[in-house]
Amino acid sequence: MGKFKEKITNSDFGFNFEDVILLPGLSRVEPREVNLSSWFTPSIKLAIPFVSSPMDTVTEEEMAVALARLGGLGILHRNCSIEEEVEMAKRVKRSESYIIRDVVSISPSATVGEAASIMREKRISGLPVVEKGRLVGIITERDVRFADRRLKVEEAMTREVVVAKPTVEPEEAIELMRRHKIEKLPIVDDSNRLYGLITYRDVEMREKYKEATRDEEGRLRVGAAISPFDLKRAKSLSPYVDVLVIDVAHFHNLNVIEATKRIVKETGKEVVIGNLGTGEAVLDSISRIDEVAGLRVGIGSGSVCTTMEVARAGAPTLFAITEAADALEELGMNIPITADGGIRGAGDVALAIACGASVVMMGYVFAGCKESPGATSIIGGRYYKLHRGMGSLAARRKRIAVDRYAQLSKEIPEGTEVWVPYRGDVATVISEFKAGLRIAMGYAGAANMEEMREKSRLLRVSPRTHTRAPDILMTPSGEM
Ligand code: XMP
Repeated sequence: MGKFKEKITNSDFGFNFEDVILLPGLSRVEPREVNLSSWFTPSIKLAIPFVSSPMDTVTEEEMAVALARLGGLGILHRNCSIEEEVEMAKRVKRSESYIIRDVVSISPSATVGEAASIMREKRISGLPVVEKGRLVGIITERDVRFADRRLKVEEAMTREVVVAKPTVEPEEAIELMRRHKIEKLPIVDDSNRLYGLITYRDVEMREKYKEATRDEEGRLRVGAAISPFDLKRAKSLSPYVDVLVIDVAHFHNLNVIEATKRIVKETGKEVVIGNLGTGEAVLDSISRIDEVAGLRVGIGSGSVCTTMEVARAGAPTLFAITEAADALEELGMNIPITADGGIRGAGDVALAIACGASVVMMGYVFAGCKESPGATSIIGGRYYKLHRGMGSLAARRKRIAVDRYAQLSKEIPEGTEVWVPYRGDVATVISEFKAGLRIAMGYAGAANMEEMREKSRLLRVSPRTHTRAPDILMTPSGEM
């Protein structure tokens, strides 16, 4: 046979989620016992394996906060200025923390009027009073409300301050605040120097969201998308994010790899690379970049991707996961794989994990949630939200994230814009996904992600396998 015909006859099969199902296996696992925790990078553990796509109709700070609280992770989009992306990251970090370190304080010689205006401006309800680094009192909204604005802070502040040491445990802190009916607990070291501040609201949040994805300081974790060619953005974001995610459609390109190598070296952050589609791409990338914290895989399978139509090129997500997982297996390396594109339901997540992924990245699913950017519209009596590919004409009009796609094809859209059904808040969607994934893992007999990867078996199906009887009529409540 000639070499050209061989290209076709020897080609691999580009299977995706609709081509396989899980084969039920011997199980001792009850779905509610299943542990869904997994890794996004070697240092970022998630209680649930769900990450949101860096798309401007999916992840800004509201989505990132909501997902991190539930145990997932949001990746901020980059279709905005550097300052805007940094500001989003800062807002996630400021949304809650255990011990606030950059505390706004005031000197005892300032006036009550000054204290009041700082509180108004920063939207905070109390200020520790600090003299030469040492805590001498606290002044709250209650103290300033009826006081003469010209008085000195030291004349209006509370001198007997309830404090705790930096080693205080959350339960202890909450107990102290309840007992003394206070909302702010200054943290001081042995020589009474102000170390930080704990607020009642933050401790409550910690109790409420026990599985939240948090950093060492108790702040919510967040990731940010960057271009490999934008070192300035990478450096500006580094102090405020937990991980950088390279956001290009085709990572397997020597210029992209070289530029990423520099970003890894100069930022010192964990960097997830992608998108990758083949084992060869994985090998070429990790052999050239010193530290790779994660692989984002799948090309052209996203709900709003048109790459496979425009360029007839792509690596379907499930195929790409197996390629990456096998390449790592061959090297004896353990780098978390993020399956990106085309996930519709919990069953797809189960298949992705079975094929070697550690977590999934979803755009379509989260775009329909309350916490995604943009308003909800009513069309034909139903609620929808807008979802658009980052290579769509609409997203490209902003011209910022345009280098996600090849330089030459800048004028050709590789994505489209669609209405997706409104699906309620992220918490509701996540609980559905958790339940579905647990059920799937129960069928596979897997009690955790590792067992799902190792034990599960798959069955290839024909397109007719899922077909319903042709003469049925769905009832309104049976709609899918
Ligand atoms: P889902 O199916 O979850 O996929 O919406 C989200 C992923 O799609 C990718 N993405 C694109 N791919 N053209 C593409 O070929 C685009 O315009 C585009 N926008 C996003 C991206 O990897 C995302 O996470």
